[in-house]
Amino acid sequence: MSHNTFGHLFRVTTFGESHGVALGCVVDGCPPGLPLEAAEIQAELDRRKPGQSRFTTQRREPDAVKILSGVFGDDRTGGRQLTTGTPIALVIENTDQRSKDYSEIRDSYRPGHADYTYEAKYGIRDYRGGGRSSARETAARVAAGAIARKVVPGITIRAALVQMGPHAIDRARWDWEEVARNPFFCPDPQAAKLYETYLDGIRKDGSSIGAVIEVVAEGVPPGLGAPLYGKLDADLAAAMMSINAVKGVEIGDGFASAALRGEDNADEMRAGNAGPAFLANHAGGILGGLSTGQPIVCRFAVKPTSSILTPRRTVTREGRDAEIVTKGRHDPCVGIRAVPVAEAMMACVLADHYLRHRGQVG
Ligand SMILES: Cc1cc2nc3c(=O)[nH]c(=O)nc-3n(C[C@H](O)[C@H](O)[C@H](O)COP(=O)(O)O)c2cc1C
Repeated sequence: MSHNTFGHLFRVTTFGESHGVALGCVVDGCPPGLPLEAAEIQAELDRRKPGQSRFTTQRREPDAVKILSGVFGDDRTGGRQLTTGTPIALVIENTDQRSKDYSEIRDSYRPGHADYTYEAKYGIRDYRGGGRSSARETAARVAAGAIARKVVPGITIRAALVQMGPHAIDRARWDWEEVARNPFFCPDPQAAKLYETYLDGIRKDGSSIGAVIEVVAEGVPPGLGAPLYGKLDADLAAAMMSINAVKGVEIGDGFASAALRGEDNADEMRAGNAGPAFLANHAGGILGGLSTGQPIVCRFAVKPTSSILTPRRTVTREGRDAEIVTKGRHDPCVGIRAVPVAEAMMACVLADHYLRHRGQVG
């Protein structure tokens, strides 16, 4: 009943709170024999790490990962560290908690946060930094994702921020190389320039803004997914929706497909050298819950950060009306740091389905 685990054969359990001693995960079911070094996991964590630009939270966390178990290397492995097939435990210490920032919200519920719902459900709430509901937990997902990326041979998983507030990118200018060159993970250099001034304005107002993230997986073999109740699109939607602040998920053309006619939406096929060649990908690489072999395209909307400096009306634990200003250090646009998290969730879902597919059909 605790639901801190996801996946069937590639199974990830995360633990930890925002202001606890540490957070981390246990990855169970990872195949043996995959080379795995802490530095590879660290490289992914460094992309999600807070405090890397003025556009993200100024909490300073090195997010240094330690591998506690599940790997082994000696002369028989050529000195390389390989996964052993046993549970891989990863831990990341919290080092920059400032719990006093949160003393004012001890007795009041922050609008847009999980304060009220956690208290209504459990009757007890770690209010320091949002406790378990904090997106600090997504560091553990990114660490698990770094392992998941190794499971499916030949896949590439990349994500990008494609809209900030009302400002969508120009898709004609999409350049994946650009994503690593600006602090927004944005594939359109001109949009990234605009976001700088736009988000500076939002930040100086003590406000926040939402965003849309797109995650694309290429090189996915056809047939991954398990109809009917383990459809790949259903599992992806659940995985993305489980990321903090995500309020909508779509696959392929998603909600825009409602405005299309059948002849525009159906992805036509021609005979190709290696099976059918699709002439379009409105379906986002999934038909009948199974991957088609085309790129899997998933998009999600992230709400604006709830912690803002404008006073908001709320109630106290005793049931009195109150006003609250959420101080502390916050991301003015949480969509930015959601980009590496999106890639990690895609990687974990695909790794799980790859192993399930292999288990059933070889
Ligand atoms: C990477 C990331 C960073 C986040 N940072 C913040 C933050 O600094 N301040 C904040 O109010 N919410 C932040 N959030 C969102 C909250 O964690 C989330 O809105 C809150 O826990 C309530 O959950 P829900 O929005 O999923 O319903 C962040 C989300 C993500 C994905």
